[in-house]
Amino acid sequence: MRISIVGTGYVGLVSGVCLADRGHQVTCVDKDADKVAKISSGVAPIYEKGLDDLLGRNLGKTLRATTDLRSAVDETELSLIAVGTPFGGQEIDTGYVEQAATEIGQALRDKDAYHVVLVKSTVVPGTTDELVLTALEKASGKKAGVDFGLGMNPEFLREGEAISDFMNPDRIVLGGLDERTHETLRKVYEPFTGVDVVLTSNKTAEMIKYASNSLLATLISFSNEIANLCSSVGGIDALEVMHGVHLDKRFSPLLPGGERITPGFISYLEAGCGFGGSCFPKDVKALIAHGQKHAASMRLLESVIEINQNQPTQVLTRVEKHFPSVKDVDIAVLGLAFKPGTDDMRESPAIPIVNALREKGARIKAYDPVARAEAQKVFGDQGIRYCEDLVETIADAQVILLLTRWDEFKQIPELLERTGSQAVLVDGRRMLDKDSVERYEGIGI
Ligand code: UGA
Repeated sequence: MRISIVGTGYVGLVSGVCLADRGHQVTCVDKDADKVAKISSGVAPIYEKGLDDLLGRNLGKTLRATTDLRSAVDETELSLIAVGTPFGGQEIDTGYVEQAATEIGQALRDKDAYHVVLVKSTVVPGTTDELVLTALEKASGKKAGVDFGLGMNPEFLREGEAISDFMNPDRIVLGGLDERTHETLRKVYEPFTGVDVVLTSNKTAEMIKYASNSLLATLISFSNEIANLCSSVGGIDALEVMHGVHLDKRFSPLLPGGERITPGFISYLEAGCGFGGSCFPKDVKALIAHGQKHAASMRLLESVIEINQNQPTQVLTRVEKHFPSVKDVDIAVLGLAFKPGTDDMRESPAIPIVNALREKGARIKAYDPVARAEAQKVFGDQGIRYCEDLVETIADAQVILLLTRWDEFKQIPELLERTGSQAVLVDGRRMLDKDSVERYEGIGI
């Protein structure tokens, strides 16, 4: 199928190269001529594992990029909207989605053939059928369900695993206004065989996306709340508690031979310094705001956010237990990105932690295997020394904070032993064995 994709950000570009790799003729559209030039020269404007390879393999064959939205829409059968929906403080800002729909609509005004518009951006339930539909009809002078189809297809892509998540989906959710839209959407995903497809309404598709992310965020805050209570009560380790909980056969099913299946979600049931990233915080807040609009209070999700916002203090109180005043204390911060495998600093728990320590006059050395440049944009250079490696960062540290679960941090116990360091280690991710470091502090102990 000939597909145009409006927006070459994270979701748009990953979707574009993957659909092109599966044999569709894809045109990526962006207003930003620099981005288009980069893509056209085979360089992805963002970093994502495997993206450059896939781009190189398909560019000029099944994939091209342009700034010309009008001809892209004209020459294709389906246009996918993959522009950003930033959280505007109160609710998501759907301005870019509306703008994209208007421009696609303007292009459709002069096009005779049937066309399908597919929303991939994360939007709250009702957006596709109301805002997008209205913008399209107004700009095109045509009728949805008659002259053009309208669908909603949420993405389930984890940063760092986006290509493999797209290529090997666990489900494909296809919202559509009518049967004809559904038929077209099925064709888009025909190359992806053996996957459960949910054919549904646009509103339900939108809600599936929010419910999925909200559930995962809830698991994290639930574990953190239990972990915090374990710490307050004393004499309990939340890791042991959660291990006992995980062994319920409804969470980790028992196979006839006695082996267990450990589902992926179990890793969201671990204690830590909180979730971050561009999705969980934003999506949960957006759903709460949407609930308010519809007079449905979302008290559980409000707590999920509140617990998460307070979780960095669990790290700070452990530091202050040993150093009631952190002024001039040498603190090594290990891990700045919101999770391993990315340089993304958005909503990273490292931000409030570093800022609080810096304000209190601590001397901070920081290290992240890939997020240094992004971190410098967030923190600047005042009061922080960015280090090139782990050894340099922890040398002379009185406190070591472990904030991102990077694999290389597993060598810390050995490094500390070798150097005879007496630093207090606060494990904000519970990734090290608590007995492997002499002065160990961890969330949930
Ligand atoms: C998340 C969802 O996992 C994707 O399914 C979804 O498509 C995406 O949001 C989105 O809405 O676009 P992402 O934000 O990339 O993906 O990150 P995750 O890997 O899920 O991590 C989110 C948070 O959960 C992080 O703070 C991380 O530390 C935490 N996490 C992650 C865990 O606690 N355990 C894990 O095993 C993985």
